[in-house]
Amino acid sequence: MRRPAIAGNWKMYKTRAETLAFFRTFLPLIEGTKHCDIVVAPPFTAICAAVEAVRGTKVAVSGQDLHWQAEGAFTGEVSGKMLAESGCTYVIVGHSERRQYFGETDESVQRKTKAALESNLTPIVCVGESLAEREANQTEAVLKRQFECGLGALTAEEFSRILIAYEPVWAIGTGRTATPEIAAEAHRYIRGLAAAHFTHEQASVLRILYGGSVKPDNIKGLMAQAEIDGALVGGASLDAKSFAEIVNY
Ligand code: PGA
Repeated sequence: MRRPAIAGNWKMYKTRAETLAFFRTFLPLIEGTKHCDIVVAPPFTAICAAVEAVRGTKVAVSGQDLHWQAEGAFTGEVSGKMLAESGCTYVIVGHSERRQYFGETDESVQRKTKAALESNLTPIVCVGESLAEREANQTEAVLKRQFECGLGALTAEEFSRILIAYEPVWAIGTGRTATPEIAAEAHRYIRGLAAAHFTHEQASVLRILYGGSVKPDNIKGLMAQAEIDGALVGGASLDAKSFAEIVNY
C-alpha cells in the first residue's frame, strides 16, 4: 500500500519566530498521528529553525527549490547539498510558481530532480496544466511533456525515490479545487505514464500528491480517491490548526 504524505508549502511566508510559533501549536496536534508522512517546506531562512523545532518528532523539513550544482558562482541560489546539511530530507522541484515567474523549465526540473537525489533528498516534483491548457483540452499533452522531459531520463532506481505532485495551476491559491474525480483522473493518467516509462510495479508504488486549494473541508473527499496519495498544501498549511486538521483528515 502507498503511505499517504501531507506536505505544507509555506512559499514566501514566515520568519524564524513565526516558524517556532507554528510548531509550538502544530506539534501537539499531530503527536498521535501515524497514518501519513508529514512534511513542511519553510522558506530557506527558516529551515534551521524548523529543523530544530521538529527534532525528535516525525515531521520532515523540505526545501522549496534547489540549484542543480552542488556549489558555484550562482548568486542567490541554494544547493541540494546545502539543504541536506541544514537538515532537510525533501525538496519541492518545479512548482508552477517557479515555472511561471522564475523561468523554470522541464529541462531544469530534470536537472534539479537528479541533483536532489544525488544529495539524498526526496524530490516532490510538481506537474500540472494551466487553465488555458485545460480549456484547450491539452491537460494530458502537458502532463505527458512535463513527465517525459522532466522525469523520463531518470533511472528506475532514481524514479523509485521521487514523489509527484499534481497541481493544476488554475486551482492554486484560487480557492477553486479540482474535484476529487478530476484530480483522480489526472493522477491515473500520470500513473499510466509512469507505467509506460518504467514498470507497472514502479507505477503502483509511486506516490502522487494533489495540490491546489486543499483545505480542511475538502481533504477527506480528495483522500477518499484511491489514486490520491496525499496533498501538497499552500495557504492552508500556514495556520497550525488548519494544517493539523488536514494532516489528521
Ligand atoms: P494552495 O497552494 O494550497 O494555496 O492552492 C498549493 C501549492 O502551491 O502547492
